[in-house]
Amino acid sequence: MAILIKNGRIVNPATNMDMRGDILIENNRIKQVLPYIEAEAEQIIEAYGCIVMPGFIDLHVHLREPGFEYKETIETGTRAAARGGFTTICAMPNTNPVIDTPGQVQFVLEKAKEAGNVHVIPVGAVTNGQQGEQIADIAGMKRQGAGAISEDGKSVMNTYLYREAMKEAAREDMPVFAHCEDKSLAGNGCINQGKKSQEYQVQGISNGVEDVIVARDILLAKETGARLHLCHCSTKDSVTFTKLAKEAGIKVTAEVCPHHFVLSEDDIVNGDSNYKMNPPLRSKEDVETLKLGLKSGVIDAISTDHAPHHEDEKKQHISTAPFGIVGLETAAALTYTELVCKGWLTPMQMAEKMSYNPAKILKLDKGDISEGKIADITIINPAWEYTIDANEFASKGKNTPFHGRKVKGQVVYTIVDGKIVYDKLKETKEI
Ligand code: DOR
Ligand code: ZN
Ligand code: ZN
Repeated sequence: MAILIKNGRIVNPATNMDMRGDILIENNRIKQVLPYIEAEAEQIIEAYGCIVMPGFIDLHVHLREPGFEYKETIETGTRAAARGGFTTICAMPNTNPVIDTPGQVQFVLEKAKEAGNVHVIPVGAVTNGQQGEQIADIAGMKRQGAGAISEDGKSVMNTYLYREAMKEAAREDMPVFAHCEDKSLAGNGCINQGKKSQEYQVQGISNGVEDVIVARDILLAKETGARLHLCHCSTKDSVTFTKLAKEAGIKVTAEVCPHHFVLSEDDIVNGDSNYKMNPPLRSKEDVETLKLGLKSGVIDAISTDHAPHHEDEKKQHISTAPFGIVGLETAAALTYTELVCKGWLTPMQMAEKMSYNPAKILKLDKGDISEGKIADITIINPAWEYTIDANEFASKGKNTPFHGRKVKGQVVYTIVDGKIVYDKLKETKEI
């Protein structure tokens, strides 16, 4: 099976290529990348006016299976990923049971294969059952195909135990994905500590809740040599500390989620719990610093923290509703609209943050659309404007504060292993 992509703007950070041209895919690999290709192909994709990028890689997704299939399944979550232009996603372990054994890792991989949408890389828990008491079988999970370890949803508060886990991660050359939240400082906070928490008379979450653990984890990375990856950075000091750590030669990388660079606490309306996530929406000053961090390269990646919840759960009062919003099907357009159109990032930098750098963090031979590479490709139409409609999501989760928002930059094709797993034009015809 051959696919020929014609006349696209090919943006490939791995080779610093930004060129109008064609890409020929044969079977699962990229056969040729040239300004003009004449070849027989079963399918021709006319990509004039479109940007052709390495397939997006999301380091941070909650697929909810096993245990919370009413929120999302591996099938619906990976379909949502394909719709969002993601060709590889990392599945966080806070399921029921927790992904903390090689057998659980195997379960996720098998389900993902069955679904056949996008690549899934399971992330193993740091401690058994995410209980923070015994270190999980990190080496065993790695052997089974886990790409990282994480206690996402919380931090391992026992610093001694976390240091031991980081030593093991360093031996196994596995990155540690850190959700930074000091539990004792967080209390029952539900949104940022500031004007909105005062207005709603609810407990706030201060920047310090995140910053204290960011600093601790950086120091532990320094001591253990582990590769630390800071999840969903939301505060200005997270950016400052990451910058200092990088300058000091500590192995640290960092991600930011679209909701944290698009929205601030000021945008929360009517106490709507679709604006509630952990970490919370912060001040305008924090948002500005996150964008500067992305622009300057201090922040390596854009990830979604896709966190689907049931409508009934999210209907609760903001103080009790669960944390989290869906993100797979809005990330590309929000990034294009808010960062590329507004001059914070070039299309090349967008491809870096959404594909090339995540691949490097995972040490994957992906995020590169050079000749000979596996054909994981995302094509977006930057001129296509539309209104986000949660009812169109493939995800079971409709919990997004972006419903009704106008954006630019539509994912039109997602190609995984040389197969088209999402075709916007077909979907439009089907509706
Ligand atoms: O908003 C969040 N949702 N933050 C987390 O840390 C966990 C996640 C979830 O699992 O729902
Ligand atoms: Zn988290
Ligand atoms: Zn998360």
